[in-house]
Amino acid sequence: MPTEAREGGGAPALADVLVLASAAWSQLRDGHSLDEALQLVRQQDSPSSKAADARIAGAVRDVTATTVRRCAIVEFLIGELLHRSADPAVRSLLAVSLAQLLANSYTPFTLVDQAVRAARLRPQTSDAAALVNAVLREFLRRRAALEEQASADPARRFNVPAWWLQRLQSQYGAGAQEVLAAQLEEPPLVLRVNSRRTTPSQVLARFATQGLEASPVGPSALWLHRAVGVERIPGFAEGLVSVQDAGAQLAAPWLGACDGMRVLDACAAPGGKAAHLLEIADCRVDAVDVDPQRAALIDSNLRRLGLAGANARVLVADIAQSASYWDQTPYDRILLDAPCSSSGVVRRHPEIPLLRRASDVAKLATRQAKMLQALWPLLAPAGRLLYVVCSVFAEEGRRQIAAFVRRQPGVRRIRLPGGGPDGLQLLPNCVAGASMRRLEGAEPVLHDGFFYALLEKI
Ligand SMILES: C[S@@+](CC[C@H](N)C(=O)[O-])C[C@H]1O[C@@H](n2cnc3c(N)ncnc32)[C@H](O)[C@@H]1O
Repeated sequence: MPTEAREGGGAPALADVLVLASAAWSQLRDGHSLDEALQLVRQQDSPSSKAADARIAGAVRDVTATTVRRCAIVEFLIGELLHRSADPAVRSLLAVSLAQLLANSYTPFTLVDQAVRAARLRPQTSDAAALVNAVLREFLRRRAALEEQASADPARRFNVPAWWLQRLQSQYGAGAQEVLAAQLEEPPLVLRVNSRRTTPSQVLARFATQGLEASPVGPSALWLHRAVGVERIPGFAEGLVSVQDAGAQLAAPWLGACDGMRVLDACAAPGGKAAHLLEIADCRVDAVDVDPQRAALIDSNLRRLGLAGANARVLVADIAQSASYWDQTPYDRILLDAPCSSSGVVRRHPEIPLLRRASDVAKLATRQAKMLQALWPLLAPAGRLLYVVCSVFAEEGRRQIAAFVRRQPGVRRIRLPGGGPDGLQLLPNCVAGASMRRLEGAEPVLHDGFFYALLEKI
């Protein structure tokens, strides 16, 4: 629903939001992730401290993320509408403003008026206020034809580079369309209920008293129909729930860790899957991550959930250097949630296709292969290793496992529910599709894109 005006009444002025979002957009185009770009803008803006204001920060994130989701079309439009060279700051302001017009977030009059004000607020753009006005008005005049022209190219429509589109089409044929469409959506907010402290029905009852609609999308997974910040999720601070996609919630049960087992979570930060393991079994988990800042998040998550203690060791180490964390007693279970292209979670991190290069996929696959090779000797006979990536590219999934099984003797592949011999590829699915199935009374399915393979040592 277009908003008439958001000035006054305590809402942040849209012109301020556009200024900060266009600064974040410039950082993104320089190769930073969305979170990094927003963080840099907060640091640079510290004298005015507008960017640190929680309401402005939320609005800046929304506007920047909307621009990321429409990046390819927005850049096409700027190419069509801007007939002369312009300062990069002007292009960025045009990008965030055009994305807001495309998203119909505000009435056209409000948006153009605020974009012109935003231009006047910064020295780099103040001379271009008339240009900003002219470009946005020309877009509004020619909108239908320009939008049709822009979306004629499927790579542009789905906001991915041509190599990404071709890779998906060659792997999934017509099914690629559904993956790409799901990735344009706003991500669903899914919670994992901490079974040590409560049950899904108790959490649902508490949500209902606060007017929050939610429904089960897995044994411990609840989909909160309207996304809110974690600080507003009832029970989050008390450790009753965590934010975790329903697809990621399959890892801990599928690893099959039982009471008393020794488990290695090899790439553990921020600790979502390690915490889930400790919620469902009295096992001992070594949670290892190479990044000390991210490893600190494992500690804080375990503390919030009441799981920190003798059963959980958080270690900062490179998993390839096992001497630094392994006491030579083999592990009964190993979880390898390897770093990957993240091509299965684009709707949560829409900047991923903009930042990745085609050559990254092969480099990541080589890194994952080395990790598998380094961890296999740490597994006990009859022990199991669960390999996970949040990717939809076969090089990191099915082909990775097929190659590992070919070169490593003594591996038995365990079939996962719905999977093939070399593992299970879950494709991200649409929120609308899931809610339809829910309305039809069927078991709802709602998850991001993941690949899973379960391997046993013979
Ligand atoms: C996909 S994330 C893990 C998410 C985590 N399992 C969870 O569920 O919350 C991958 C992690 O691998 C870590 N990582 C990358 N290379 C590593 C290495 N050589 N040794 C240990 N951890 C590594 C990264 O720092 C990152 O935190």
